[in-house]
Amino acid sequence: MTVTIVGSQLGDEGKGGIVDLYGDDVDVVARYQGGDNAGHTVVHEGEEYKLSLVPSGAIRGKVGVLGNGCVVNPRTLFDEIDTLQNRGLDPDVRVAERAHVILPFHRVLDGIEEEVKSETDDEVGTTGRGIGPTYEDKAGRRGVRVGDLLDPDVLRERLEYVVPQKRAVVEDVYGLDVADLDDPDALDVDALYEEFREFGRRFEAEEMTVNAGAFLTEAMENGQNVMFEGAQGTIIDIDHGNYPYVTSSNPTAGGAAVGTGVSPGVVGGGEVVGIVKGYLTRVGSGPLPTELGGVVGDTPGYDEQGEGENEDLAHYIREEGGEYGTVTGRPRRVGWLDMPMLRHATRVSGFTGLAINHLDVLAGLDEVKVGHTYTLDGEELRSMPPRTEQWADCEANLRRFEGWAEFDPATVASEGYEALPENARTYVEYIEDELDTPAYAIGVGPGRGETIVRESPF
Ligand code: GDP
Ligand code: IMO
Ligand code: MG
Repeated sequence: MTVTIVGSQLGDEGKGGIVDLYGDDVDVVARYQGGDNAGHTVVHEGEEYKLSLVPSGAIRGKVGVLGNGCVVNPRTLFDEIDTLQNRGLDPDVRVAERAHVILPFHRVLDGIEEEVKSETDDEVGTTGRGIGPTYEDKAGRRGVRVGDLLDPDVLRERLEYVVPQKRAVVEDVYGLDVADLDDPDALDVDALYEEFREFGRRFEAEEMTVNAGAFLTEAMENGQNVMFEGAQGTIIDIDHGNYPYVTSSNPTAGGAAVGTGVSPGVVGGGEVVGIVKGYLTRVGSGPLPTELGGVVGDTPGYDEQGEGENEDLAHYIREEGGEYGTVTGRPRRVGWLDMPMLRHATRVSGFTGLAINHLDVLAGLDEVKVGHTYTLDGEELRSMPPRTEQWADCEANLRRFEGWAEFDPATVASEGYEALPENARTYVEYIEDELDTPAYAIGVGPGRGETIVRESPF
């Protein structure tokens, strides 16, 4: 069977930890979208692993697949594999031949476009990893796929077609001189060919490339369990998120079928677990109706760090939760849980279960609030409106919950749900009721042993 792990909010909900939690029952973990913009953390026995591309099952020695829906930067992939090997792991990663390759000029273009947009405060605040430009080339039918790295003639032909176009964009559209770029080789066909052909040889030598759909189907026919590991989250999904402040792929459950080559029935026939952070964080720009305080440079219209009760709360939660970007180190924006957002996410992906994380971070507060509904133009909304500007105008109607005292996470995790403070259980049950979905797991700390497991989706 399959279990699909989906971020229900804006990324960083603790997906990596939940993949690891249930990983014992899994044979193969497949990523279906995104690239090294992801930063998934697994903490076990005092060791912390931050994974950008290698699927999180690697910590338990499970086979990892990067599906056709992913964009793969081989520099990052091999660095990450080498680093994990140096830490004593032996990651077995297979890469779809249909997945697209992030080339150095994609990062260059990501940086240039953000720079240009920042002149009018319109930047998305991307991770700078070249994700958007790579998906653009995929849709524009001028991308280089992993399979192309295996065939010298095809690789050269593809590069000779695409590189002059990119050079023209840099020079003629943005008026920059390629020689002045930090990495002028990023637009040199010969240099790119040499480097990426070498990656192709390593893929071949280590027998890493696969036809992802066929590989996964065969695994399932042999009785193996497959987990689909979503990256990012629903509200930064290019279709269902708050466009244009989004990533360029589909983290929602539909992406798991398209991005790996199994049928929608396979994904829908399994479980889909929505990962919920007990509050909200966001890296990058865009609205956030339940935001507490703000982060200069990311929160729209926020020029100077403010003061006040909400700022103190945001600061407190950020420090308690260690809310700094896994990939970029940027401080994450913080807000209360947003139920209209979660109702939208639940509908789009059809969650069959939830994992609600970070309840330990909220412990010790006198009260905890959630945005229960929105008011927009005098009307009450229970879900997110499709227009980003309308979402920005939504006022959250807050519902207040009594806080809960600090507790020992390992003890609560081992004793089970009833050991969680009563007010925290009230909070969990409110979320379950509103979304009509049971919480399978409750995170009370970053470690594998700091999660209350109520049910396994397998
Ligand atoms: P992902 O991108 O969804 O995998 O999440 P990240 O790894 O980017 O961010 C989640 C952070 O919270 C990581 O540092 C995790 O180790 C940590 N974490 C996950 N679950 C919990 C939890 O229940 N409590 C606490 N305190 N930290 C958690
Ligand atoms: P994980 O998998 C949080 C955000 C960026 C930016 C927007 C577009 O760790 O949850 P991109 O580089 O993808 O073009 O940036 O999306 N973003 C994430 N935010 N967690 C992530 O991944 C993210 N990946 C991208 O901050 O706002
Ligand atoms: Mg992350």
